[in-house]
Formats: sequence, structure tokens, C-alpha cells
Amino acid sequence: MCMIHTSPILVIAGSVRPKRIALQIAQWVSEIGREVMDRTLEVVDLKDWHLPMDDEPGIPATGAYACDHTRVWSRKIAEAGALVFVTPQYNWGYPAALKNALDHLYSEWAGKPAMIVSYGGHGGGKCADQLRQVCEALHMNLIATQPRMKLPRERIEANTGDIEPAIEFAGHLAELRQAFGELEVARATLV
Ligand SMILES: Cc1cc2nc3c(=O)[nH]c(=O)nc-3n(C[C@H](O)[C@H](O)[C@H](O)COP(=O)(O)O)c2cc1C
Repeated sequence: MCMIHTSPILVIAGSVRPKRIALQIAQWVSEIGREVMDRTLEVVDLKDWHLPMDDEPGIPATGAYACDHTRVWSRKIAEAGALVFVTPQYNWGYPAALKNALDHLYSEWAGKPAMIVSYGGHGGGKCADQLRQVCEALHMNLIATQPRMKLPRERIEANTGDIEPAIEFAGHLAELRQAFGELEVARATLV
């Protein structure tokens, strides 16, 4: 069996701010992935990864990393069998913490089956489009379906740091299942 078949599927939560809802959403998304793909998905909280902003002195595309934390992050991503980015939209883009995590590496991302799930007042489509371009530059194998989950205006304004995704994003469930089905196909073709 090819290594990638047993490799973890990582669900990377794009927000690190206090009172974020990203982790709850990433957890919910990972549960849908588990149902569809019949395997456990691992949520990655970028807050747990010590990646100071753009602190590698070299060019990541060379793969020669000076910092221990970059080498650990490199191993984490290199071992992944597929990636799911769960990201909010910030001023039409995606959070700097996510870009920083992407930019710390290069070749580790290449060829990975990947899925983008965005959320925001209108679904976060603008940030998803930007992230899609960056994932293409990093040669990821992006699936076609890109769920864009609409966050109610009251939820954004309340900023409680709490959400019940299964209720508030119930209308996106079918699309998420469709996306995970595509991710499974993309992953299986690597075996
Ligand atoms: C810096 C910042 C910029 C934002 N920009 C947008 C935006 O462009 N469009 C939008 O729909 N919501 C925007 N919002 C609202 C977010 O969708 C909302 O706060 C959401 O909860 C952010 O996800 P998080 O809690 O996981 O960080 C923004 C929020 C922040 C903190």
C-alpha cells in the first residue's frame, strides 16, 4: 500500500484570533469528512504551531530550512495524505496566519489533494478565490467543489467566539459531502 493512503487528512483552521469560530467549524467539517471518507480527520490549529511571520532566511522552494519549527511543520505537511483548508474571509482575503503557514514551505504542498471551505457574510468566496490561486501556485491538486458557507450577519456582529455549525451551516451539508467525495476520489488516485 502506498504511504499516502494511510497518511492523515489534515483540516487546517485558518484563523488564530481570540474569539474565533474557526476551530468549531473545522471540527464540524472534519466530522462530515469522517462520515464520507470513513476515516478520522485531524484538525490542525495554527495557534499550536510556532511559525513566526516569514522568519526563514532562505527561499522555502529550496527545501533548506534554517529553523527547527519549519522542519517540524515540513514533516507534518509532507506526511499528509490530503488537506482541507477551513478559512474565514478577512477584508476579501484569507488570514495572514494561513498565508504564513503556507509560505513557510513549498514542495511539501505539491500534489496533495486539497479542498477549500470558506465562510463569511457572503460565504467568503473572495478569500477562497485568492487561496485557490495560491494553492495552484503550490501545485496542490484542488478538487472542484469549494463550499462557501454563509455566516449570518448577527453571528458576525455578535462575535461571541461560539457557533453551532451544524445548525447555522445546515444548508451547506450536501455540498460539503459532495466535496469530501471528490477529495476521496483525488486521494484514491494517488494510491
Ligand atoms: C479582520 C477581519 C476582517 C473581516 N472581513 C470580512 C469580510 O471581508 N467579509 C466578511 O464576510 N466578513 C468579514 N469579517 C467577519 C468574519 O467573517 C467573522 O468575524 C468570522 O467570525 C471570522 O472568522 P473567525 O472567527 O474564525 O476568525 C472580518 C473579520 C475580521 C476579524
